[in-house]
Amino acid sequence: MNLARYLTLAVLTLSSFGACSRPDAAPASHEPSVASAAAAVADAPPDPAMEARTLFRTRCAVCHGDVGKGDGPGAAALNPKPRAFADAAWQQATTDDALRTIIVQGGPAVGKNAAMPPNPDLVSKPAVVVELIKIVRGFAPK
Ligand code: HEC
Repeated sequence: MNLARYLTLAVLTLSSFGACSRPDAAPASHEPSVASAAAAVADAPPDPAMEARTLFRTRCAVCHGDVGKGDGPGAAALNPKPRAFADAAWQQATTDDALRTIIVQGGPAVGKNAAMPPNPDLVSKPAVVVELIKIVRGFAPK
């Protein structure tokens, strides 16, 4: 290897080493460093719609079912059963405010069964509650 090639290699190695060890520095090459990609993910604003979808799957579906039919595995032991959200007459009669109240404060807050649990952590996440309401509305017959 001649000296010029050796120096070029050494400079390249040093500059990429520098980019990795200083994540706050601008990326030295065209490829974004792993550190700056990770920072971009961490800085991304939370997506309430995505959070609501995850919540419905992990917290609501056990009773309400994956598609809101009220037939989740936890519903078998419940009386009254969670209604099917596809009930058109109910969708028409209920308001978004009533949905918000029961989702955040639980069944007893609207005179319904305590088997519908409150979700106090959602008090501070109104945008996620809006998206949960959209999910419930989305089960209405088209
Ligand atoms: C442990 C079971 C359970 C879980 C978990 C649960 N629910 Fe319920 N939910 C119920 C039951 C039972 C009712 C019906 C209460 C009644 O009719 O008295 C209900 C009622 C409701 C209603 C009102 C329906 C109506 O008849 O007016 C909404 C809206 C609702 N749930 C949304 C949710 C959402 C959204 C989640 C997740 C954040 C959730 N529920 C989690 C059991 C559950």
